[in-house]
Amino acid sequence: MKTVRVALKQCPYSIVIGHRILGDFGKKLRRLNPGRDALLVTSAKIWRLHGAALEKGLKQNGFSVKVFAVADGERSKSARSAVALLERIARYDVMRRPFIVAFGGGVIGDLAGFVAAVYKRGIPYVQIPTTFLAQIDAAIGGKTAIDLTAGKNLAGAFYQPKMVFSDVSVLKTLPLRQMRNGLAEAVKYGIILDPRLFRFLELHVRDVLAGEESALTRVVVRSSRLKAGVVEADEKEITGHRAILNFGHTLGHAIEAAGKFKLYQHGEAVALGMRMAADISVRKSMLGAGDARRINLLLDAAGLPRLCRKISAGQILTLMKHDKKFISGRNRFVLARAIGRVSLVEGIGETVIRQAVAGRLCAR
Ligand code: GLY
Repeated sequence: MKTVRVALKQCPYSIVIGHRILGDFGKKLRRLNPGRDALLVTSAKIWRLHGAALEKGLKQNGFSVKVFAVADGERSKSARSAVALLERIARYDVMRRPFIVAFGGGVIGDLAGFVAAVYKRGIPYVQIPTTFLAQIDAAIGGKTAIDLTAGKNLAGAFYQPKMVFSDVSVLKTLPLRQMRNGLAEAVKYGIILDPRLFRFLELHVRDVLAGEESALTRVVVRSSRLKAGVVEADEKEITGHRAILNFGHTLGHAIEAAGKFKLYQHGEAVALGMRMAADISVRKSMLGAGDARRINLLLDAAGLPRLCRKISAGQILTLMKHDKKFISGRNRFVLARAIGRVSLVEGIGETVIRQAVAGRLCAR
């Protein structure tokens, strides 16, 4: 088992990473004294696949266990689902000492974290991420949110978990597409902060996709460390440092939205956004063509999309302008200066953006 510390002033916590460790969760948790009654927010599928070991370890360590299964997919992040979950919890929670365990992917982590932040004005919670993307990125950092009709993640809170517990062995049951989806964020960490991680991925991308245990663990540990460092430097998105996490996301979010959140998974859209951001970086003479080529080759090797299908440049540009990260109408891009180094640049001209987008559109 490896531990990565998230050294926040008010609420430091550990990210525990290992292989076949779900049975040890109860023992680890007992030391944190989060309460007595574990409210597990999960999906029926995750619970069926991995629930038994977790439940046994929790009960052996004196916790009561109540499972709240929610439907798979983004619709579980609606305000209606959040309120329904809060009502279910409130009906169950009489004279108890509850805490929440988010046991699932990014949707479950966001929903359960949000519910933990608002139920009784905040009860403790822990994250057990079960997708590659969530282990690498989504479960770490304390941003919790639900979606509103006007947009994704519009209602939320910064609310840090007591612990993140990542068992890489659960990734073995994931479809390849989901592994690729997570890998996109690992590639992002290499580009924004860590040339060694990038090099490791270039050499071992196949092992990672095949679920090879030591390669997976290394990528989850390293990405978790990098994310922890960014969150420590800018826990609540005040200094601006957190913005580097948005490399590939300015256009990536627009692509995801243009595909109505069905055509592309998050990591796939971000991969396209990273290819475009690398192109813009070259056009702005910030990045050498050789480094941009390495980025594109690694994304190719990861099996991530090269071209956008069924969406137009106009759709992408319009949706980009609605992104909540726009400041007073000015766009803001994270651009690469080298593998492992990025800068925040505001007000990139529309022609350059159009050229980068056009280079990644499928001819219709
Ligand atoms: N929960 C994701 C983040 O805080 O970045």
